[in-house]
Parts: sequence; structure tokens; C-alpha cells
Amino acid sequence: MALDPATTSNTFDRYIEELRSLWRDSQDAELPFKVKAAMERMIASTSPDDPWMAEIIRDADPSRELYRDPDYGFVQMGHVHPEGHGNTPHDHGPCWVVYGAYTGLTEIPLYERADDGRNADKADLRIKEVHRLGPGVVYPYLTGQIHSTQVAEPPAVVFRFLSADLTKILRRRYNLETGDVSLIEPQS
Ligand SMILES: [Fe+2]
Repeated sequence: MALDPATTSNTFDRYIEELRSLWRDSQDAELPFKVKAAMERMIASTSPDDPWMAEIIRDADPSRELYRDPDYGFVQMGHVHPEGHGNTPHDHGPCWVVYGAYTGLTEIPLYERADDGRNADKADLRIKEVHRLGPGVVYPYLTGQIHSTQVAEPPAVVFRFLSADLTKILRRRYNLETGDVSLIEPQS
């Protein structure tokens, strides 16, 4: 659920306003990096005692929609991931996302394909790089970039910005052992 407006303080509101003005003014390839910079500023300027952040930490909700933009369709999620949380390699279809850590440590391996990509049902993935998201670290994950997440030090308070509602688009999930590629169908 969205944050209680009564407890939302300036840093989150300012961040959302900044995102909205970015969306209005800069629909270009730099936009994910501008959102990254805005999220870095928001994280750096927010105290754990700020009411809206204190609410997120206290509720420890694994997945919460903090904001959905009525005009531009982007979505800001908040996550509090416990020990052992992780997911398998996936992409976000035509969308891009920005992940930023407030507390804990989340590792995000990025994968590249070792095959020629011609078989739509199979993928031979290799880890290309591992991002380590400690407090204040933010990375964009661009269209088609295959990645997974694993909590290394819980609890991990993570902000996840989505350029659009991911449940409405076709995505792919990859099985590292079998090489199988499965489709994540849009929800109606
Ligand atoms: Fe992801």
C-alpha cells in the first residue's frame, strides 16, 4: 500500500517531484541515470527517523508500492528483504529499473549470454559483473539487462524504481542449471 500521506515527509515528496520533472523534460537515454542520481540524493538526505522512512523500517513489508504516477506510469517500490531473500535471473522486457539500497547489502549479478541467442527457449548465461548494493549505492538496470538479486546482509531496505508497471509487460526468467528461458506473462 502507499505510504500514509500524513507521515510522508519532504525527502520522499521532493524525490517524486524531481522524478516528475525529469519525466517531463528529459525523455532520452540519460533518463535512467538521472533517476539514479535523484535516488542517491533522496537516500543520502533521508534519516531513519524521518517518519516515512521509520514507517517502512517498522513495517518491514517485503514489497510495497510507495508511489504510482498517475500521468507517467512509473512506479516506486519499497522493499525490506529478510535473510535469504533472492530471485533467479530475469529481465524486465522493454522497461528499465533503478535499484538503490538504504540498509543492508544486496548483491546483483549481471549476466551475459555465452550463446548466440538464436534459440528463444534456451540461454547459456555467464556472470559478467556483480554489483554490491550497500547503503547509498544505486544502479540502473537497462532494457534487456539480465540480472538477479540476493540479500547478503539483512535486513535490506531497497528502493526499486520501475519505468512502468512490470506486471503489465512480458518478461523473461532464466534457469541457470537447465538453461531454460520462461516467459512471465503480463497480468490482466
Ligand atoms: Fe529485477
